[in-house]
Parts: sequence; structure tokens; C-alpha cells
Amino acid sequence: MKSIQLSDGRKMSFLHHVCEKVDAPTIVFAHGFPLDHSMWQGQLPLAEAANLVMPDLPGFGESDAVTDELTMKSMADDVADLLKQIGVSKVIFCGLSMGGYIGWEFVHNHGDMLDGLICCNTRATADDETTARARRLAVAQVMQNGTEPIAVAMKQKLFSSKTLSHNVELVDDVSNVILDANPQTVAAAQLGMAKRTDHSELLQQIDARTLVIAGADDQITPADEMRDMSFLIGESSFVEIADAGHLSPAEQPRIFNHAVIHWLG
Ligand code: MLT
Repeated sequence: MKSIQLSDGRKMSFLHHVCEKVDAPTIVFAHGFPLDHSMWQGQLPLAEAANLVMPDLPGFGESDAVTDELTMKSMADDVADLLKQIGVSKVIFCGLSMGGYIGWEFVHNHGDMLDGLICCNTRATADDETTARARRLAVAQVMQNGTEPIAVAMKQKLFSSKTLSHNVELVDDVSNVILDANPQTVAAAQLGMAKRTDHSELLQQIDARTLVIAGADDQITPADEMRDMSFLIGESSFVEIADAGHLSPAEQPRIFNHAVIHWLG
């Protein structure tokens, strides 16, 4: 892992794989909640076609924590800061779920850096009041009981039934990342997600090439909802991956990578 100091002094850690091809595009990968860069391990073979930047978002993995609310915009700004510091001026932003919410903020605030968008298992709408309330309750719980209850609850929601029965190693690895997550960061991210902006209106304004990837068995961001979202984006392709739940890149890395390579052309 490498690290840089963000403009306010916080450390941000990241993996950086440089492609041997001249003029290869750069893809930055924003992980889901409450994970870290390791969820993209299955995407390392994409280094044959693109430069890869895989940060630990603030407070996750090895990156320094924030103390209060972790907004989607502040995380998009931190990713832009990281990219500028390592000399990347144009990037394909690939985000999964919370990483996708950060992606909309990146499009909105750093559109001049955008060379394309890969939206995985995510949505553009904000939380409804019931979901936002549940998140605020979860904040109190994680500060009191730590991340174990979240690790247990998310295990059933994150994966397809095939992954749960056939890929115990992945399920255990992801559960361990959740168990190791910093409770304060988990709480701060929940508050940030509860208050995130509804970016439905942004979809029709996106003129960057876009790939939307859904898991056929995703219980959190259903494939049909993602297909509808994809229709609203001008230059977009939609791919639905069988036997994948909410973590489609990790559950079906070969199919996911093939879709990205094909889309990159
Ligand atoms: C994620 O995978 O990042 C979460 O499901 C996002 C969310 O809680 O909305």
C-alpha cells in the first residue's frame, strides 16, 4: 500500500498498479460500505488494460479517520485530491454502492477529470425517511456494540445464495473486513449516507461513457432498478451478472472484468 497526505494532513492509503501499455486509461475504484480497497482484489487482472488506483476511503482500511460526519462529497473531494497528487488528470470512476454515491459527487464536482463511469450495485436516489431513520438508529448501535452485529446482518444481504454456499472464503474475508472496521467511521458514513443528495436529475446530464453493472441476485440495489437507471444515462451500457449479489465484482470477478475490458474496447 502507498499513502499520501490529503490537503488537511490526513493520510490516505491506496493501491496503485501501473499498466505497461502506453496511453492506458486510469480507473479509480471506490469501495462499498463498510469495506476497504481489498473488495477489488479480483479486479487486479484489469491492470493489463488500465492503470488501477484503489484507495481506502477516509477512516476505512489504513486511511486516517474523520471524527464526525463522512459526506459523499468530502469523500469525492478526497479521491480527487489523491488523483491530482499522483498525477492523474483524467479518470474512469468505478464505484460500488456507497462508492457509487461518491461517484455522483465526483461527476458533479470534478466533472473535468471524468473519462468514464462504472456504476456497480448502486443507485442515484437518496434515502427515504424510513431508511434514513434506520441509519440513525444504527449509529447508536455501532457506537455501543461495535461492528459485529453489522457483520452478521450484512452477510445475508451482500451475497448471492451461490456465493454463500460456494465461496466461503470470500464471505469470511468480507466479514472480517467489516469486523475490523472502525465503529466511529461506520457511524460517520451512515450519517453521511442518510443525508446524501438525490442525484436522479444528474443521470440525464452525464455525457461520459458509462457502464452500469448489476448483480442478478442483489437484494440491496436490485438489477431492475439499475437497468432503469442505466436507461436515463445517455451513453450507457448495462450488464447483469448471474449468481452475483451486491458484491458482484468480488463474487464474479472474471465476468465483471470481461465486461469492463469489453466496454473499454
Ligand atoms: C454499500 O454496500 O456500500 C451499502 O449497501 C450502501 C448503503 O448502505 O446504502
